[in-house]
Amino acid sequence: MKPVKIGVLGLGTVGGGTVNVLRRNADEIARRAGREIQVVRAFARDLNRSRICDTTGIGLTDDPYSIVNDPEIEIVAELIGGTGIARDLVLKALDNGKHVVTANKALIALHGNEIFAKARAQGLMVAFEAAVAGGIPIIKAVREGLAGNTIEWVAGIINGTCNYILTEMWEKGRDFPDVLQEAQALGYAEADPTFDVEGIDAAHKLTILASIAFGIPLQFDKVYIEGISGITRLDVAYAQALGYRIKLLGIARRTPAGVELRVHPTLIPERRLIANVNGVMNAVLVKGDAVGPTLFYGAGADPTGSSVVADLVDVVRMLTSDPDNRVPHLAFQPGSIADIPVLPASEMQTAYYLRLSAEDKPGVLADVTRILADHRISIEAIIQKEALADESHLPVILLTHKLKEKELNEALARIEALSTINGPVKRIRVETLG
Ligand code: NDP
Ligand code: HSE
Repeated sequence: MKPVKIGVLGLGTVGGGTVNVLRRNADEIARRAGREIQVVRAFARDLNRSRICDTTGIGLTDDPYSIVNDPEIEIVAELIGGTGIARDLVLKALDNGKHVVTANKALIALHGNEIFAKARAQGLMVAFEAAVAGGIPIIKAVREGLAGNTIEWVAGIINGTCNYILTEMWEKGRDFPDVLQEAQALGYAEADPTFDVEGIDAAHKLTILASIAFGIPLQFDKVYIEGISGITRLDVAYAQALGYRIKLLGIARRTPAGVELRVHPTLIPERRLIANVNGVMNAVLVKGDAVGPTLFYGAGADPTGSSVVADLVDVVRMLTSDPDNRVPHLAFQPGSIADIPVLPASEMQTAYYLRLSAEDKPGVLADVTRILADHRISIEAIIQKEALADESHLPVILLTHKLKEKELNEALARIEALSTINGPVKRIRVETLG
């Protein structure tokens, strides 16, 4: 059979990695796909820049539209990123009858509903395995491997940059800005690294995971998002003293009242496997009613080319299939997407780590615990540290049982109003993931 001709948009970390995998495993890939997959053209902005891949035999261009308008090309791999030109190119490729593979989580989370509608109307595939958790085939696992389950919840370490930063803070006591610079130099971070550290990248990925897990529309704007920039080495150390690790988790949970969608730093008991996922590695824990908990682990950054190529193989295998009988983009049949409400933050339920700075005098802790009791908030653990020689306040750390966030907000407003409490109370959510 004739080779399938591919056009690659973007030759950076992921685009270059994809070309490398396609070259290295060309024979194995052709045996699987049934046809040779050939990158015939590739786009980069700067054609003079050296590349991590061998571009011999690939027609390079700095005009991406010349690729999406090229009648020879059957599949376009969008590996540029962002929601500007990438969106335009993907829509143009679909208009021109080309299938699309992308690693762009921002694009799918924000514009996926529009892109999939166009792809359906055109009878085309849009594959996005690489958009979530890099090299881990989590989309395929949830969409196909777990298709017999009612998914109860998903919790994932889905931003390698944040995991790398938190691991370095915990293992080596390093400071945040230093580690972030290193993660950028290693190619882990997004073009705008605030997307990583403020939880936005993880929220893009969670939006996609929640949609394929629960059969709900992509709704990034409803995700509660909190990043790791407020986490201090002190919190990492206190969490450790209590038997926990701090990770940035993306959590999607089905509850009787609706769905919780949230990204935030989280204390996880150190006995859990996922608490021991360190460095730039990713892991996604999925709880299905039939299968129970399943953990998917792997690298989220460099090996992303592995997922892009897996999607290319899938698309090539399905080229001649009837569009109506393909696996639906978002796992559920388009007419069966359910409008389950997404709960506001005030209705979310979780346990909390609280750190307060309390005046070192009798009765202060009693006032705090009385307020918590008034709000029926029970305490699971408490530690009080010594004040430094020159300080009149000392750190007190409390772990609460699970409660509704609005209850905690009311109690904390009263605690923060006490004259013996200095500044705002630091709160970090706790998940046992049992
Ligand atoms: P890079 O910055 O390494 O590469 C981006 C490529 O697109 C480069 O070839 C660049 O050209 C080109 N490009 C960048 N910005 C523009 C623009 N505004 N207009 C036109 N071309 C542009 O990005 P990555 O490879 O890291 O990321 C690509 C996609 O993959 C993103 O969606 C990202 O979120 C996603 N992703 C990234 C992962 C990672 O670990 N890096 C992992 C999983 C997904 P030039 O090289 O000439 O500058
Ligand atoms: N910036 C992302 C991360 C790349 O750190 O996880 C992989 O999606």
